[in-house]
Amino acid sequence: MSRIPQNFIDDLVARADIVEVIGSRVPLKKKGREYAACCPFHHEKSPSFFVSPDKQFYHCFGCGAHGTALGFLMAFERLDFVEAVETLAGQMGLEVPREGGDAPTESPHAPLFAVLEDCARFYQAQLRRTPVAIDYLKRRGVSGDTAATFGLGHAPAGFDTLLTALHADSTTVDQLKRAGMLSEGERGGLYDRFRERIMFPIRDRRGRVIAFGGRVLGDEKPKYLNSPETPLFHKGHELYGLYEARKALGRPDRLIVVEGYMDVVMLAQHGLREAVATLGTAVTREQVDLMFRHTAQVVFCFDGDEAGRRAAWRALESTLPQLRDGLDARFMFLPDGEDPDSLVRKEGAEAFRARISRDALSFDAFLLGELAKQAQDDGSPASRARLKSLALPMIQGMPNGVLKDLVLDALAGRVGVPVDRLRDEPRGAGEARRAPATVAPANTEAGRSTVLRQAILLLLHHPELAGLRPCPPEWAESPVPGLPLLSQLLHLLSARPVSMGVILERFRDSPHAQALDALTRLRPPRDSEDEAIRVPMWHAMLEHISDMHNRKRLHDLTNRPLSELQATERSELIRLQNLRLTKGRK
Ligand code: UTP
Ligand code: MN
Repeated sequence: MSRIPQNFIDDLVARADIVEVIGSRVPLKKKGREYAACCPFHHEKSPSFFVSPDKQFYHCFGCGAHGTALGFLMAFERLDFVEAVETLAGQMGLEVPREGGDAPTESPHAPLFAVLEDCARFYQAQLRRTPVAIDYLKRRGVSGDTAATFGLGHAPAGFDTLLTALHADSTTVDQLKRAGMLSEGERGGLYDRFRERIMFPIRDRRGRVIAFGGRVLGDEKPKYLNSPETPLFHKGHELYGLYEARKALGRPDRLIVVEGYMDVVMLAQHGLREAVATLGTAVTREQVDLMFRHTAQVVFCFDGDEAGRRAAWRALESTLPQLRDGLDARFMFLPDGEDPDSLVRKEGAEAFRARISRDALSFDAFLLGELAKQAQDDGSPASRARLKSLALPMIQGMPNGVLKDLVLDALAGRVGVPVDRLRDEPRGAGEARRAPATVAPANTEAGRSTVLRQAILLLLHHPELAGLRPCPPEWAESPVPGLPLLSQLLHLLSARPVSMGVILERFRDSPHAQALDALTRLRPPRDSEDEAIRVPMWHAMLEHISDMHNRKRLHDLTNRPLSELQATERSELIRLQNLRLTKGRK
């Protein structure tokens, strides 16, 4: 198996700007030498999440979340280590090198990605040579550029076009089948799933094709056919157009969520490149989670009819439990018989934007408005009680915060109950809050740290201390717990002081990773901020540690029969005994 060279990772973490990496995903405010934000890993009203450019490290004093730029990407975007390295490298325009082994470390799904890429290319080539398909897209106003941006294609007629085009051997056939590109006949025969359709490749957040949607050119049914669930594609977890939106905009200020493939494509063509679609399913929590990982504002666009309002309600239900402070969800209903595609073609982008600003309801207006209808709210005490019992459980399901308080206020005003009474009402059937799995409670035992832990902690925060005195070689194998780790750190840092972030990434796979990680949750002694104190403090600590090592070695060596000791151990014993004498005389 090939791996990513350690020095590349060192370099990547050293060169990456953690403020930029986090700042492009969470709004940061400068505070002294650090940057602060409300923690993205737990719900809070005042910022206890800090990012240190010097240390290339982030830390939340509220929930204990902490780590490097890579660790942040892993936690925030739910990437594995290699994906995080690739994302960070990609952002910095670097190619990730591999060493050792011949094949790159690939997920077991890699062949499926490859075969889907081949299919997409085949469909695109087919589009270029199929006049009826080109005409169809032209009639709908799709430009050549747009078709290219979204990788649109055409699946030709026939039942074995993919098998023929890809010269499929039995392995490829199996991959095509697992990737959802083939259907199985009654007698077990395999044939093309998509035939005579305009093809919309669905891409994952890294731009890899994971599925397709295909539209008929006429009125046949079904109008759209989608890939089935496959190892790569889980419909409820994906958003059509998210990759393209991110590619065009980086981190978009908002996402416009629409229902159809063509809506996304045509909004983008008109310059509304922040559109994504939910692939013909009700909006799921996973999709909302995905949206809010890429933007702070989501505008849901639905048809104005009964079905549209029902769909919007489902979206609201998926959204409320995730609506923490700083996020925003709006709901826009379109005029009868229109969808975003038809509207933007008719009115243009500016009118569409204006429509959003004018017509989109805030989530609480939509919530209370719909429930008031449902409760047949006419101001009577009975209808108000109905409204309260409908609304309260939904609001209780929101993360605590200012936003939740505001909605509670609005409800209180509407039903004529003091807001404190509403707030104190026991929680009904609402769901327990989901805590992020990456977060562990903060360690509060800073005061009880041993000298060794303190020394390592100090070194993590002030790596330049490593250069102040040489590290005795025997510490590498010291019986004193923690000293071999300190020794490794001293060797690493005396060559070149690097930030805490680089150190942690260097030790990610080492047996010391956990110990180091635990230390990052502690603060070094307060007065060590001052260099005039820090340097003598460091020397005193190392003297003490040196003593600890010597005493332990002396103890171990004296407890072994002299005859068993090797020559070097005997001279070490003599040296240690003399040392003790010297010390004793002082
Ligand atoms: P619509 O029926 O609103 O279609 O379905 P549309 O997007 O406006 O399509 P055009 O403009 O006629 O081409 C909205 C979405 O629902 C899913 C598709 O994702 C579609 O884009 N859908 C619809 C299906 O999956 N299957 C269908 O048969 C119809
Ligand atoms: Mn349409």
